[in-house]
Amino acid sequence: MKIALFPGDGIGPEIMGEARRVLDAIDLRGLVLFEGDVGGAAYRRYGHPLPPETLDMAKAADAVLFGAVGDPACDNLERHLRPEQAILGLRSQLGLFANLRPATMFPGLEDMSALRPEVASQIDLLIVRELNGDVYFGEKAMRVLDDGRRQGYDFMSYAEDEVRRIAHVAFRAAQGRKGKLCSVDKANVLETSQLWRDVVIETHAEYPDVELSHMYVDNAAMQLVRNPGQFDVVVTGNLFGDILSDQASMCVGSIGLLASAALGERQTDFGTFGMYEPIHGSAPDIAGQGKANPMAMILSLAMLLRHSLGLEAEAARIEAAVGKTLEDGVLGADLGGSAGTSEVGDAVLARL
Ligand code: NAD
Ligand code: IPM
Ligand code: MN
Repeated sequence: MKIALFPGDGIGPEIMGEARRVLDAIDLRGLVLFEGDVGGAAYRRYGHPLPPETLDMAKAADAVLFGAVGDPACDNLERHLRPEQAILGLRSQLGLFANLRPATMFPGLEDMSALRPEVASQIDLLIVRELNGDVYFGEKAMRVLDDGRRQGYDFMSYAEDEVRRIAHVAFRAAQGRKGKLCSVDKANVLETSQLWRDVVIETHAEYPDVELSHMYVDNAAMQLVRNPGQFDVVVTGNLFGDILSDQASMCVGSIGLLASAALGERQTDFGTFGMYEPIHGSAPDIAGQGKANPMAMILSLAMLLRHSLGLEAEAARIEAAVGKTLEDGVLGADLGGSAGTSEVGDAVLARL
């Protein structure tokens, strides 16, 4: 079982260190780990945020565990050299089109939600975010118009096969949960979204047991804070999914809690090849201070064990240890507590 570890920038290496300790404690036989450079760290060393060495390492692995990328010092580089291109490049070049971003309330954390506890306690949803298309990957440029004004543009599009494959993932996910799927779009304004909605409706014919609804993204943002308990599975495009998942994290309590899996079609000997990462970024404002919450990273490791290595029992063990740690009130500053990154890691290890 080969896992590639890409710690990245900012708090990435700090939280990866805690995930690594958890992985060591699980003590899997036949595990081989590789470590690679991504993001600003890779740019400084190789002149590129996603060097071929790193991409090859990812391709040779059964799964990738990804910390975070992003470095304010790199924000003015040409776009193709910026740290974020590492994550976008890995997602597209590895064909990882399905991003699972679960958001569930942890017992004991209700008071730390940005919502009222009785509202927050109902949260148990899964955002299925499309990851290889949309305005993220369309033609984009800055140009100067004939009248001398500068213009920036980004081409938004979805082809029907791109929508259909993510719709299948979402319908199947709903079948394994409460059987409810809400497709989020902006079909009242965008042709990209009208096509999205048409294809989701067509695909629904194969899943009569799933209850399908549609919601415009502005309303979805509102409903997510008004009554998040109404959602089971949410399927949406790349941009809307990015935004709604950060919002969902604060409904749960902190962005330091939400993990994700990016999956494609490639199967390994043990499961589905995937890349696993917290939904948050490199948090430059707290990097190097030992304050980052490592839970999202540790929970990403659990998702990796489940989806790519077929180790459901180990994944559940890690999730239970995280849940118990939170329930016992071992909380970082992001959750109103005072535990540092390694103290949270210690507490998870003790409960493991
Ligand atoms: P961010 O998610 O890095 O941080 C937003 C806020 O949340 C900050 O105040 C930060 O301190 C806090 N935060 C994030 N993770 C935390 C954790 N584990 N524990 C405690 N607090 C945490 O978003 P940003 O500030 O908009 O972006 C910073 C950089 O990260 C940018 O370069 C951005 O492009 C990049 N980014 C990378 C990823 C990724 O690698 N997956 C995701 C999002 C943003
Ligand atoms: C995320 C991040 C990335 C995205 C950035 C860093 C490219 O915000 O994983 O949520 O927008 O997908
Ligand atoms: Mn994001």
